[in-house]
Amino acid sequence: MCGIVGYTGCREAYPILIKGLHRLEYRGYDSAGTALFSENYGNLNIFKASGKVSDLEKAAEGHDRSGSMGIAHTRWATHGSPNVANAHPHVSQSGDITLVHNGIIENYAVLRDQLKAKGFTFKSQTDTEVLVQLIEFIRTTQETDIVNAVRLALTKAIGAYAIVVMDKRTPDVLVAARNASPMVIGIGENDSEFFIASDASPIAEYTNRMVYLNDGEVAVCVKGSPLKVLNLENDSVEAKVKKVNLDLNMLDKGGFPHFMLKEIFDQPNVLKDCLRGRLLPEHQRVILSAVTEHREELLNAKRFIVVSCGTSWHAGLIGKQLIEDFCQIPVEVAYASEFRYANPVVGPGDIVIAISQSGETADTLAAINLAKAKGAMIFGIVNAVGSSIARHTDTGTYIHVGPEIGVASTKAFTGQVTVLIMLALALAHEKKSISTASYQEVLAELALIPEKIEKVLEQNDKIKTLASRYAECRNFLYLGRGVNYPVALEGALKLKEISYIHAEGYPAAEMKHGPIALVDEDMPVVFIATHHQLYEKVVSNMQEVIARKGKILAIVTEGDELVKKMVDEVIEVPQTLNCLAPLLTVIPLQILAYHIAVAKGLNVDMPRNLAKSVTVE
Ligand code: G6P
Repeated sequence: MCGIVGYTGCREAYPILIKGLHRLEYRGYDSAGTALFSENYGNLNIFKASGKVSDLEKAAEGHDRSGSMGIAHTRWATHGSPNVANAHPHVSQSGDITLVHNGIIENYAVLRDQLKAKGFTFKSQTDTEVLVQLIEFIRTTQETDIVNAVRLALTKAIGAYAIVVMDKRTPDVLVAARNASPMVIGIGENDSEFFIASDASPIAEYTNRMVYLNDGEVAVCVKGSPLKVLNLENDSVEAKVKKVNLDLNMLDKGGFPHFMLKEIFDQPNVLKDCLRGRLLPEHQRVILSAVTEHREELLNAKRFIVVSCGTSWHAGLIGKQLIEDFCQIPVEVAYASEFRYANPVVGPGDIVIAISQSGETADTLAAINLAKAKGAMIFGIVNAVGSSIARHTDTGTYIHVGPEIGVASTKAFTGQVTVLIMLALALAHEKKSISTASYQEVLAELALIPEKIEKVLEQNDKIKTLASRYAECRNFLYLGRGVNYPVALEGALKLKEISYIHAEGYPAAEMKHGPIALVDEDMPVVFIATHHQLYEKVVSNMQEVIARKGKILAIVTEGDELVKKMVDEVIEVPQTLNCLAPLLTVIPLQILAYHIAVAKGLNVDMPRNLAKSVTVE
């Protein structure tokens, strides 16, 4: 979802801004733009394009792109279609002030009417343009400087924002601010240059010294001067500099045609990173520092409530089964977007587990803030280090799978499930609700999961061939039971997201209560039918599909001869414990969705209408 880059310093800004926008492409967007302050002529040069950053580069080609200060943006349309007029940066009526914005100004219509009454006209349908005109109105009528004008304007804006503002009258000064939308400031060489972005990825190659703005803070970045941070009441706030080291190789495709495929293949290695230092098979222990530090609160929890969205919600459904099974603590799983408006019964003694890859999902952030206000403790399972959700939790465990760029989540899902397994095991061990033998058996098997995933990945070519046969299908059904039911949901979501094929996930036994009416020779049904106590029952569900001429693709345990004889296609995964099965069974479903989308010639990493980091509700 929308991305921001800004720069002020001694270097040429344009290449930094464009490279930064490319780094943010993974967030999902549909138009792009940049504004550069050219010292030579004192001009603001603005370029915009609908489509991709490469379209923006074409639009700027041959024009004056000089200047050592600028702002840039990728827009994911909310108010108004993704055309050039609505693309950012937006410019004030006089042409002096330019602004880029992530988020939504909820009271924009009221503000726009007030500004129209004062003679302001609007060129776009966006909420953002209202903000830049409001800043200009305040700066002119109150005869104040840009920093004050931004601050005062923000006291009138309701909603979520991360903004960067530039004023022709004060070259060298960038003003950045945030409320409920992420914003990072990188401090460059000799403290005299500043890189601003919506996450650390466009900044990491220039500096590792970063300041994450908090809600209600305004940063004043002046070339050659130390960073100044204010709150909306105009008091100075300490700028806390953090060292953030991002592995830049992780931000590249590493020889794969798409980020998604790279991230699927990353899974054995990144899961080792996720387990490292936590799973100690030689000592037959799993240690999570959050569990050690908050042992009493966790063990005495009345219940856990998972809040999350999308793929992270599916991981939560698996976590629920594991925590309830191992620890006998009740777990609820809520969509963060529903939880936040449901007046939920939550309070002291409840532990809310927030699961999020990006750590910036607006609904999840709002859900945890609500739960916190009502007295619950917040435990984060987050990938993006230093992200808003990570900073708003009381404790938690990072999944440590490296930046995920492909919009369809893959390695973050297996990372989240891995952390949830470790959490369930660590708690159960402390609570003595698991036998030592079972605890050690799961630990030993968990350590083997990365190599077992390698074995699944070896079937990539086979799955690719299968995928070419399914590319023309219009509908899919995914069925599984127990821990493999959320995997069915996740498999269906992966297919929908990137191939635009309608797919539904269901608990296999529920099929007969509705979805079976859809089954005919044109309806592929993907069964997850690994060996577990409900295996025979799943096999009976397959018979029901076969009787109605449905085509079956089954994910089975290695060596399963029974299902192989019954169905059209099988993909085998190595034998493992049922509680760990999702870490293996989801892999072929990720690969299948990937190859179907590629066979259809679609943009796998940036599917239409989707965003990686959903910073609006
Ligand atoms: C978006 C992404 C999904 C992701 C969901 C939740 O919809 O496209 O892949 O699962 O947001 O994101 P989070 O970062 O909170 O896990």
